[in-house]
Amino acid sequence: MQQQYITRAERIMQRIQQLAAISEDADGLTRTFGTPAFLAGRALVHGWLEAAGLPTRVDGIGNLRARLLSATPAARTFVLASHIDTVVNAGKFDGPLGVLMGLDLLENLLAQQVELPFHLELIAFSDEEGVRFHTTYLGSRVVAGSFDSALLARPDDGGITLARALEIMEANAAQIAADAIPAADWLGYFEMHIEQGPVLWERQLPVALVTAIAGQIRVELTFTGMAGHAGTVPMDMRQDALCAAAEFILITEQFALAHGQGLVATVGKLALSHAASNVIPGQVVCSLDLRSSDATQLTDAYQDLKTYTEAIARQRNVGLVWNLVQQTAPVACDADLNELLAEAIADAGHEVVALVSGAGHDAVPVSAVAPATMLFIRCFKGISHNPLEDVELADLASALEVADRFLHLLRLQIPTR
Ligand code: HGY
Ligand code: MN
Ligand code: MN
Repeated sequence: MQQQYITRAERIMQRIQQLAAISEDADGLTRTFGTPAFLAGRALVHGWLEAAGLPTRVDGIGNLRARLLSATPAARTFVLASHIDTVVNAGKFDGPLGVLMGLDLLENLLAQQVELPFHLELIAFSDEEGVRFHTTYLGSRVVAGSFDSALLARPDDGGITLARALEIMEANAAQIAADAIPAADWLGYFEMHIEQGPVLWERQLPVALVTAIAGQIRVELTFTGMAGHAGTVPMDMRQDALCAAAEFILITEQFALAHGQGLVATVGKLALSHAASNVIPGQVVCSLDLRSSDATQLTDAYQDLKTYTEAIARQRNVGLVWNLVQQTAPVACDADLNELLAEAIADAGHEVVALVSGAGHDAVPVSAVAPATMLFIRCFKGISHNPLEDVELADLASALEVADRFLHLLRLQIPTR
């Protein structure tokens, strides 16, 4: 391992720690779309980009974007990106690692005064996790040209719409359509991200390439029964919204377990209205997150679970509103870019491992308009969406060397006009 990669990795780790110190929660790391903490974190990264001498701008959805231009004006654009928003009580690496690795690559190309046959754009996406508005990929959908402007009217839990949130963060939503990179201008997309799974940890390997990214479906369910006195309503006369939700949650778990490796289902949010220990719950709202890398398995599971849940509601005489919030199909990463990435991994002296990503990534909407690929970096026991998330310095250094080699191979592929 060349010392330069260790030194570069150390600087990235310092920046990861600095950024992680900015949170909207006193205990734990949370930086959700558009909050003051999000804006402070983005400003910190903005300063690093400017200090590197990169012309940088904030686009209409709040993405941070910097370009390293080719001397060829008509050159196409290759994008390095990941996200700077986080889940609640997040780890430090999910998202920011890819952005800060991309910054390092640009700084290194600038320092070497490399002549690029393509424009290189680094993007820190503003909302990949979808925590605030429960819709993922807001930032990357704008860049990919697939943003649905109807989302601007979508309210967060506090009733603030996305349009209003953009006003508050002084983002100009009117320019969103112009912020897309036209399909003809794309050369490709490369995202570096922690694996967020256990394979590299188990196999003791630093990196892997990604062949596909699982599809995901997000649903919001509202169970409405009848609030009542905990002491007077007989058990067989209740319309208990929480018991209906509980039966739904356990049926969902059993259903996913019965489908083996391919399908995963999670209920990550649940809220009772007017909760009190002596009141029979009248209304419960909860989420469903369904994933599979097999499109048919995903849609069949969705339909089956919807049918089972409707039956539970009927049997319990509880109302059910089943609101499909988001649906993204599984996507394949680009075979040609993966060939280059595999060569770069092998040239760096590592075994080439190809994984399917159970986690969603901004590469998903981008893959509709451009060849996209990802490099996974090993993380501690595969833990993610958890403060225990961690990355070893040596693995980060290995990933930087692989990324350097990948960009070099890509440059060789593109004749300078
Ligand atoms: O939910 C996901 O897969 C990603 O972390 N947004
Ligand atoms: Mn992520
Ligand atoms: Mn995530």
